[in-house]
Amino acid sequence: MKVAITGAFSYSGRYLAKLLLDAGHTVVSLSSRFAPIAAAPLTSQEVSRVEKHPLDFDDEKRLGAALEGCCVLWCTYWIRFERNGDTFAAAADRCARLFEIARQAGVRRIVYTSHTHATEDSPFVYIAGKARAASALRASGVASYAIARPCGIFGDTAGESILMNNAAWVLRRAPLFLLAGDGQQRFQPIHVRDMAQLLLELGALENEGAPSEERDACGPDKPTAVDLFQHIASCVHSRAVVSAPGMLSTRLVTQMTKPINWYTGDVILDTDDLDLLCSGLTQAEVPEDPAISRRRSLFTWLEDVGPHLGNEYISSMQRYYYQRA
Ligand SMILES: NC(=O)c1ccc[n+]([C@@H]2O[C@H](COP(=O)([O-])OP(=O)(O)OC[C@H]3O[C@@H](n4cnc5c(N)ncnc54)[C@H](OP(=O)(O)O)[C@@H]3O)[C@@H](O)[C@H]2O)c1
Repeated sequence: MKVAITGAFSYSGRYLAKLLLDAGHTVVSLSSRFAPIAAAPLTSQEVSRVEKHPLDFDDEKRLGAALEGCCVLWCTYWIRFERNGDTFAAAADRCARLFEIARQAGVRRIVYTSHTHATEDSPFVYIAGKARAASALRASGVASYAIARPCGIFGDTAGESILMNNAAWVLRRAPLFLLAGDGQQRFQPIHVRDMAQLLLELGALENEGAPSEERDACGPDKPTAVDLFQHIASCVHSRAVVSAPGMLSTRLVTQMTKPINWYTGDVILDTDDLDLLCSGLTQAEVPEDPAISRRRSLFTWLEDVGPHLGNEYISSMQRYYYQRA
C-alpha cells in the first residue's frame, strides 16, 4: 500500500517509516528534509526507497498531488516553539488544511499526534494548539482517524532525546539541579520505537473498516520530577544535588537557565515547557490501557545509555530551526 508521513526523516517518523518499509509499503515523506537527521534505523537503501515531497503549506496543489493514491496519512507536523511570529494556533490551522487536502486526495485514514490532556481552552498554548488540530481532524469528514497522545518521547540513542540528554549534560557539570515547585509532578514518556509501533497500529492498514480511535502514547514508568532527575544523575555518575525546595516558580527556574542558553545558543527550556511539565498533564489519560505496561522502561533505557547521555549538548534550535535541509 502507499502511505504518507510528515517527517519520515525526522524523529518518530523515521522509526515509523522503518516499520512501514519493512512491511513492504510505499512511503511518501512530506518534509523539508531529504535525508534523515540520524543514520539509524533507516539504511541508505531504505532512504532511497522513500518518495520525497516538500511539506509546503503554500502549495496545496502540490501537496494534494503528493498524497494521490495514499490510503493513510500520519501527521506528526508541529513546531517546537512559538517563534518569529509563528504560533501554535497557526500550526494547528496548517494541520487542518493538510487534513482537508488529504481527504480531497482520497486518503481514507489520518493519524495525528496530539498530547496527553490537550484541551482547546488549556492555558498551555502548546497543547491548546494540539487540541485545536485534533478537533479539526474529528470534524474533517475523513473516512476514519486516530489520535495518539504522547507527553514525551525518549530513545533510541542518547543524542536523540533532547530533554533527557540536556538534563544529563547539566547534571554532569553543575553541583546543584533545582526544580520548580515541589518536584512531585509525574512524567510518563514513551520510547520512540513503541511510539512508532503504536502509530503503525493506529494506521489500521489491514482493516479498511477500523473505527476512529484515540489512545495515550505513554510508557510504563511514571516518575516524579525529583525521581526522574535523581535517576538521571545516578546513571551519569553525577554528584549534583537534585532538589525541589518548593518555593521556586517556573519563571524563576527559566531565568536561572539563561546562562545555559547564552552559552549554548539554544533555549534549553522555556517557561511554557516548564509550566506544562509542572502541570500534572504529562501522564496518561487512560492509565489502565494494557499496552502501557508492555512498553519499554524509561529507567532501564536511562541506565543503558547513561555512559553516553549528556556528554554533548544537543541544541533544539539547531535541530528544529537551523538544520532544516
Ligand atoms: N518529542 C516529544 O517529546 C513529544 C512530546 C509530546 C508530543 N510530541 C508530538 O509528537 C509528534 C512527533 O514528535 P517528534 O519529536 O517525533 O517530531 P519531529 O520528528 O521532530 O517533527 C515532526 C514533524 O514536524 C515538522 N517540524 C518540526 N519543527 C518544524 C519547523 N520549525 N518548521 C517546519 N516543520 C517542522 C518536522 O519537519 P521535518 O520533517 O522537515 O523535520 C516533521 O515533519 C509531534 O507532533 C510532537 O509535537 C512529541
